[in-house]
Amino acid sequence: MTAPSQANQPRKLHVVTHGCQMNVYDSARMADLLRPLGYETVDAPEGADMVILNTCHIRERAEEKVFSLLGRLRQMKEAQNGQMMIAVTGCVAQAEGEVLAKRAPYVDLIVGPQAYHRLPELIASAHRKTGAVIDTDFPAEQKFDFLPDAAAPQGVMSFLSIQEGCDKFCSFCVVPYTRGAESSRPVASVVAEARRMVALGAREISLLGQNVNAYHGEGVDGTDWGLVKLIDELSKIEPLARIRYTTSHPNDMDVELIKAHGDNPKLMPFLHLPVQSGSDKILRAMNRKHDAAKFYKIVEELKAIRPDMAFSSDFIIGHPGESEEDFRATMRLVNEVGFALAYSFKYSPRPGTPAAALPQLAEDVKDARLYELQAVLRQQQTSFNESKEGQTMPVLFSGPGRRPGQQAGRSPYMQPVVVEYDGDLTGEICAVEITQGNPNFLFGRLLRKEKLAA
Ligand code: SAH
Ligand code: SF4
Ligand code: F3S
Repeated sequence: MTAPSQANQPRKLHVVTHGCQMNVYDSARMADLLRPLGYETVDAPEGADMVILNTCHIRERAEEKVFSLLGRLRQMKEAQNGQMMIAVTGCVAQAEGEVLAKRAPYVDLIVGPQAYHRLPELIASAHRKTGAVIDTDFPAEQKFDFLPDAAAPQGVMSFLSIQEGCDKFCSFCVVPYTRGAESSRPVASVVAEARRMVALGAREISLLGQNVNAYHGEGVDGTDWGLVKLIDELSKIEPLARIRYTTSHPNDMDVELIKAHGDNPKLMPFLHLPVQSGSDKILRAMNRKHDAAKFYKIVEELKAIRPDMAFSSDFIIGHPGESEEDFRATMRLVNEVGFALAYSFKYSPRPGTPAAALPQLAEDVKDARLYELQAVLRQQQTSFNESKEGQTMPVLFSGPGRRPGQQAGRSPYMQPVVVEYDGDLTGEICAVEITQGNPNFLFGRLLRKEKLAA
């Protein structure tokens, strides 16, 4: 890669993000990091001086997406006489760095999720070198200590990474290998970032982590703080109105955290708690280290504390060893708990994970089970949305709706809500009477413009 001829001219940066919210957060931080070097973000890759492809490795299809997009970028790079630096970051970079460098020699930079704070120096070395510069270290330093303050406002609903990595090693999952060991940011650094987000217009913050409820960061008093203490500290920030946290593991839903849902009015009555399967045998095979009863118990305890609590979850269908009976146990759990929202996936064998080495189920069996599960989950989501008809809910507005004369926001349950209103409600929490519950969103009537308690 040769250096651009006029180094001081603004350079165009295009970032493509796949995967989870954590990748979305990382992409924004990479753009923050490169802004002082003169990189301005643009919406399309054509004509860009640099393209960052921030990738996901969770399922095979996610990985395939990377290679097909890289093929297109290669053509664009050729059309620009090589004047396009291509960086692959994120979880595919971490897991497949060497393979990528061989298979896609036109990639200039391969950087893992814990090393991207080094991007400026890596870019400089890529300019001096032919062939890819690879940095997939898990450095001792925390990248957060090296990143500049977030500059671009995320908006009314902002996401903040507080914990990374995973030590749980579920049989099916690449995350412990791609993100490394669990580590938590110090409380002071999280609080400072939250304050900046609020100053830039955030009214809701979602705390992010692969196992966010395993958070244990250095507190402002030097002792170890858990998630509840961190949330309580963040709750003092005004006018921050809503706090969420995702993704949680059932084993880290301790008594204190459950109780916090009853004590802290800023914590929303909605929890994403992946269960993966309703069968104890499969949960054991998955190395989840809890049974279905534990999940039921958490749900019951939370509902006892907050009767308006609703749940979302993740399911994997067709993990090795899943019998018809195991699948029925999953269906039973779904029917008994009832989910407001859910994500379900066909098991995808991932290289290097224990479950990938086991005998696999036939594709048509997985397909049929997933189809049956998703039909029920879709029905549950629709009924949950319909159950809100006639109710009044506090809606946090984030901007215009799709049609002119509409404003859009979110309910406490993350449901998109649309109202007719000829004005700007951005950042306000208003009372909305829900007039129609659709499968994917709610229609409502604006009752009061003045702020409601969260
Ligand atoms: N840390 C979270 C989930 C992270 S991955 C947790 O512990 O639940 C997000 C979701 O992707 C998982 O909940 C799981 O449902 C799904 N997933 C992970 N690996 C998968 C695989 N190999 N095949 C299919 N789905 C997978
Ligand atoms: Fe993956 Fe399990 Fe860790 Fe979640 S807890 S990130 S599913 S290994
Ligand atoms: Fe994907 Fe990595 Fe997130 S594998 S889901 S981008 S942690």
